[in-house]
Amino acid sequence: MGEQAKISVGGMVTDNAVLKGSVGPDVIDIRKLYAQTKMFTFDPGFTSTASCESALTYIDGEEGVLLHRGYPIGQLAENSSFMEVSYLLLNGELPTAEKLDNFTYTISRHTMLHEQLMQFYRGFRRDAHPMAIMCGVVGALSAFYHDSTDISDPQHRKISSHRLIAKMPTIAAAAYKYSIGQPFVSPDNSLSYTGNFMRMTFGVAAEPYELHPAVEQAMDRIFILHADHEQNASTSTVRLAGSSGANPFACIAAGIACLWGPAHGGANEAALNMLREIGTPDKIPHFIERAKDKNDPFRLMGFGHRVYKNYDPRATVMQSTVREVFDALKVDDPLFETAMRLEELALSDDYFIEKKLFPNVDFYSGIILSAIGFPTTMFTVLFALARTVGWVAQWNEMISDPGQKIGRPRQLYTGPTQRDYSPIGNR
Ligand code: SDX
Repeated sequence: MGEQAKISVGGMVTDNAVLKGSVGPDVIDIRKLYAQTKMFTFDPGFTSTASCESALTYIDGEEGVLLHRGYPIGQLAENSSFMEVSYLLLNGELPTAEKLDNFTYTISRHTMLHEQLMQFYRGFRRDAHPMAIMCGVVGALSAFYHDSTDISDPQHRKISSHRLIAKMPTIAAAAYKYSIGQPFVSPDNSLSYTGNFMRMTFGVAAEPYELHPAVEQAMDRIFILHADHEQNASTSTVRLAGSSGANPFACIAAGIACLWGPAHGGANEAALNMLREIGTPDKIPHFIERAKDKNDPFRLMGFGHRVYKNYDPRATVMQSTVREVFDALKVDDPLFETAMRLEELALSDDYFIEKKLFPNVDFYSGIILSAIGFPTTMFTVLFALARTVGWVAQWNEMISDPGQKIGRPRQLYTGPTQRDYSPIGNR
């Protein structure tokens, strides 16, 4: 018998198996704890809880390490492509050239949207936040694909996954076009996945669309950096929704809704708005003091992370990508200087050092996306576009686990104990 964790409570001692992964913290298997002790564990933010077993992504928060199927994010960002990383997440191994071509071709054949689905956009106000549109339109996909919602069928799971990965760029680009009153641009499958998205977003029928290679590469790299990230809030939402047997389109719509929050994927939009509010470097000390003030709800957006207590390796890549995009587009946004100065001052402040608050993936992304021409309201949409492959990979991993069951946490009840109803005249 392997290592056991003894839990002694209520005059009882339980032996709980210690399970070991391939790397990272061991876990204490408490699946039988309630049956043995009639007690629950209590961990509202899941700070000490492993919700599942996974082979997709490993994060070492202390060391600032992020691996996708064992490959470091820095190496993937430098050498791979979003299509190749998508294949890796879904299939577990880097593809041969032929397998990558076949995968890319398959994805390209699902980029179009049903014409009836395009009508959904017209129901929104032009100034609707595009994340609201994404929640609605992605959830509505389940109304169009009755041919592939049997989640117990691996083929249905596969085509649904491919449809979601392929259609997110088209849906996202259409949300942007709708917001600016321009006609939708149909996919051009002769382009790369990222090139197709950029043309659907910024191209117009009236003239040819030229995409700077450095910008295409930067966007593809940004998609890689956002592809998957272990059991974060939105991925856990997708898993929990999927555990009930809900169809994949509804599950991804739930993930999009969760990602929208400013504490999660909405932080990229909030971080750029914060930098704009700060304006010039001389205002930074005032905002750092506000971030440290317990009575002030203000936080430095783009800083801190539940897992990373070191530099987020994605932020490192993001910062170097800012310079590449600025050089390519010959832009010089003073907010980049403000961001770097803010990082420098925050990381030398005892409060941030003691609480191990470093810039995360969202701190620099907004500066790049703004330089490329995206409005801040589109930033989290781009995060959702890229994270869809991670969500569907995690969903597939969960559904195909033979031990999978519906997620159903319990609680510590602190409400009134039983009491009798009193007629209104007696109250
Ligand atoms: C993403 O989980 C993932 O993997 C997410 C993500 C992904 O790829 O899926 O990486 C993407 O969501 C990145 C995080 C983006 N969010 C932000 O940048 C928003 C600002 N950050 C914070 O809201 C916060 O850091 C969180 C939400 C990211 C993490 O919160 P935790 O782990 O619950 O930590 P906490 O809120 O308990 O903070 C610990 C302490 C607190 O002080 P004390 O109560 O201990 O005195 O640090 C302080 C917090 O007040 N703190 C901050 C801060 N973040 C935490 N203080 C000032 N500014 C901040 N940004």
